[in-house]
Amino acid sequence: MSNKATAVESPFLAACHGGFHKHVPVWLMRQAGRYMVEYRELREKVSFLELCSSPDLIAEVTLHACDKIHADAAILFADILLIPDAIGQKLSFVKGMGPRLESPVRSLADVEALKPFETGMLSHIYDGVRLIRQGLPEDKSLIGFAGAPFTVASYMVEGGPSKNFLHMKRMILEEPQAWSSLMERLTVATIDYLEAQVSAGADAVQLFDSWVGCLSADWYRAYVKPYVKRIVSVFKGRVPVILFGKGTSHLLEDFAETGCDVMGVDYVTSMKDVRRRFPDLVLQGNLDPAVLYADRDTIKREVVKILDDIGSFEGFIFNLGHGILPTTPVDNAIYLVDLVHELTQS
Ligand code: CP3
Repeated sequence: MSNKATAVESPFLAACHGGFHKHVPVWLMRQAGRYMVEYRELREKVSFLELCSSPDLIAEVTLHACDKIHADAAILFADILLIPDAIGQKLSFVKGMGPRLESPVRSLADVEALKPFETGMLSHIYDGVRLIRQGLPEDKSLIGFAGAPFTVASYMVEGGPSKNFLHMKRMILEEPQAWSSLMERLTVATIDYLEAQVSAGADAVQLFDSWVGCLSADWYRAYVKPYVKRIVSVFKGRVPVILFGKGTSHLLEDFAETGCDVMGVDYVTSMKDVRRRFPDLVLQGNLDPAVLYADRDTIKREVVKILDDIGSFEGFIFNLGHGILPTTPVDNAIYLVDLVHELTQS
């Protein structure tokens, strides 16, 4: 018998479908990570990439984090850069410098030299998803994820994190064929990868388009949106799709037009304003991760403000406005989740 959570019994899925069940559901972006001592201990024994290639460890880390902070949903432990690594751009992490992808992709010839993505290249991830679903209580949901093509492409073209995305913007303007070919490949790969996660038991998927806020709305519409729309359309009516970007207030109308079910809201954007702009859309967000360094009264004050701003608890998922920071006191993360549950329970 499948123990896949349904909208009826899961606060998270009820919210994804525009409803409310028991309490406002909470999960935190990057909820499994370095702020947890158990994670740091494990990382002393295995590298990040070793961790991401072991289904048992993927499941252990995912389930432990969800359980420890009392979250309503687990997010698969993996990384958005596993696809570039799988198709031939070797991924590494340089301490203090973030992710590196070797031989940046800067021309049509570079794009064509990449291997086509095959679903089986990341089969250990789907095995991890199956193990997580088996170990997760019925009322908790499992979120699969991938990077959206733009944000993944940004790392592939720049070779790592970037401030101004100059190589990528040059490619978009001067080598439109290379750009569309790269986006096309990433779109097809992302669809395959997410399909496999859903088949393995993911209840919802989140597309991380973390850095797309560096584009104007005109550029977004011309060079990015059609690809995101295609990905979203594949999952429409099957599992909820959450679309998240940072610094994307100027793009949210376009995000909504991709057909996504849930819109992730970053912490510089006003929840009140977004609720007013999109009264019919499910929203997720948006506590500033820095608030988790404050005292409990301050955390409570900031949480109450978001709950006031959101108005109705229907169709709302509480989250941070970006990933939890590596030095966050874990007790404050637990306090936050319990507090949202307590303040919103029916
Ligand atoms: O949310 C979760 O708990 C699930 C796991 C997850 C990770 N990365 C684990 C991870 C998710 C959803 C991601 C997404 C991701 N990865 C994004 C989009 C989300 C966002 O934050 O905007 C991006 C841009 C990446 C690329 C990436 N991978 C970065 C920037 C880093 C941090 C590098 C650093 O040194 O700070 C990673 C590594 C990474 N991914 C870690 C974790 C827990 C830290 C690895 C470690 O040192 O143990």
